[in-house]
Amino acid sequence: MKVKKLLAAALTGAMIFSLAACGSSSGGNSSKKTSKGTNGKNVGISMPTKSLERWNRDGSYLQKQFKDKGYGVSLTYSDNKIDQQVKDIEGLIADKVDLLVVAAIDGESLSQVLADAKDANIPVISYDRLIMNTDAISYYVSFDNYKVGTLQGEFIKDKLDLDNAAGPFNIEFTAGDPADNNAKFFFNGAMDVLKPYIKSGKLVVPSGQTEFDQVATAQWDTSKAMSRFQNILGSYYSDGKQLDAAVCSNDSTALGVTQAIASDYAGKNSILITGQDGDEANLKNIVDGKQTMTVYKAVANEAVATLDLGVKLLSGEKPDEGLIKDSGWSFDCSYDTKSYDNGKGVVPSYLLVPTVVTKENIQKELVDTKYYTMDDKGYPHPAN
Ligand code: GAL
Repeated sequence: MKVKKLLAAALTGAMIFSLAACGSSSGGNSSKKTSKGTNGKNVGISMPTKSLERWNRDGSYLQKQFKDKGYGVSLTYSDNKIDQQVKDIEGLIADKVDLLVVAAIDGESLSQVLADAKDANIPVISYDRLIMNTDAISYYVSFDNYKVGTLQGEFIKDKLDLDNAAGPFNIEFTAGDPADNNAKFFFNGAMDVLKPYIKSGKLVVPSGQTEFDQVATAQWDTSKAMSRFQNILGSYYSDGKQLDAAVCSNDSTALGVTQAIASDYAGKNSILITGQDGDEANLKNIVDGKQTMTVYKAVANEAVATLDLGVKLLSGEKPDEGLIKDSGWSFDCSYDTKSYDNGKGVVPSYLLVPTVVTKENIQKELVDTKYYTMDDKGYPHPAN
């Protein structure tokens, strides 16, 4: 296993080093015509936005992976605008790309444009977020999204020692974008761990907001998360009530919640705050003790899995779990044919494994793996 890890580190290091050289994407909202690669094929990659940090890394890694294999690549970012993403994908289809890799802004909004892709015999990989209500999707590549949530829930359970401590503890929830199919998986994963403690009274939710629709955050927007949490603190904690934990489904919402606590929470106690993605500002907050954990997903590996799946698809194969067995990947991945029904049927999925990152293991999980570098103040920065 050690050899594999060293190989992975070397690969990541090499990818990161050369990412700077491979130049930026055809980015922005429009995609220039995609030239065929040296292997005579080209790939269209549609990312949702640059404003949420992780997608910049996804786009770079995916572009690098396919370019290195000789594919022409057109990478688009749609500024979190649904109609723009439809236009961008239409442009990629018009460019006659041989494969589409799509991370949807709104999983319900691409049925028509992907029907056009299907008519053009373009295979589509649904990347990271499941695209709904279309039979045009060949495969789904993501992380185990439910596991992301259970890791957050178990972190709170362990840190508060809910099985042994007297309690009760006060907790609030902040979930993600209702348009993002992942968001419910994250929320349900955490809630399924914590619900028994809410039921028993060990955990109390003073705002009473425990349903997904009550705690969701449109577009994962930091300022929306912040103002909602300011309202909660003003309405339910102004009597001096102690807040013990805030479950946030990702780092952009955790940033807003942390800002709300800094500005509107009178208590002096440290509050357990969860997140996801390892965004730079949140890692700084974790080092500074303002956030307690993030669930890290090595999107470099998600890109490797997407590439290897794409290569098989482009050679007319329909891989199954054999792709994993024969891959030589340095990371764990499962093949799932049950969990992700997109409304037109279960989409075969390759699910990578997320990791809990805290102040204690940032060096090991993020810096030693070469995904991040550490500056002289002890703050991590994305390596690419
Ligand atoms: C989700 C993604 C997460 C989260 C969010 C914001 O779909 O899986 O990493 O950060 O979008 O982009």
